[in-house]
Amino acid sequence: MVRMAIVVFTLFYALCCFAPCLAFEFDDCGSTLGKFTEVVISECSTSDEKCNFVRGTNATMSINFKPNKDISHIVARVYGILNILPVPFPLSQPDVCKDPNAGLKCPLHKDQEYHYMTMMSIKKNFPSVNVKIKWEFVNENNEKIVCIEFPAKVT
Ligand SMILES: *[C@@H]1O[C@H](CO)[C@@H](O)[C@H](O)[C@H]1NC(C)=O
Repeated sequence: MVRMAIVVFTLFYALCCFAPCLAFEFDDCGSTLGKFTEVVISECSTSDEKCNFVRGTNATMSINFKPNKDISHIVARVYGILNILPVPFPLSQPDVCKDPNAGLKCPLHKDQEYHYMTMMSIKKNFPSVNVKIKWEFVNENNEKIVCIEFPAKVT
């Protein structure tokens, strides 16, 4: 009986490991004035090993988040971390409150859920690399409203 249980257990883990071991998560890298509840990126599934960005395409990203304070100023900062070196990713409009396509109406109110949208151009001249992406929203005092980190590859 015990042996049977061990065999079943081992099989279960062996089978299970294929999918979950390859999956990734959107990690919280220190959100303090809020937290994110959902992140969706086009062509990117968390059941994959990494988020795949294809050069020459536009990726859309949406973030649902909830501030725990009223917020009137939001700067988006995106880095690609190569080894340990963070390389800033240029955003067309880092001032989120001034971005008409972001879908946010500032000031944001405490404990309400907001839905942010953006589009990133994955330029043809980007290097083809594995990179860790760090996506931050900070306020005027550089405090993190939301910080999201996830593994990606550019192909
Ligand atoms: C990506 O977006 C830019 C700006 O809106 C647009 O000019 C371009 O045609 C888009 N590229 C693709 C591949 O959809």
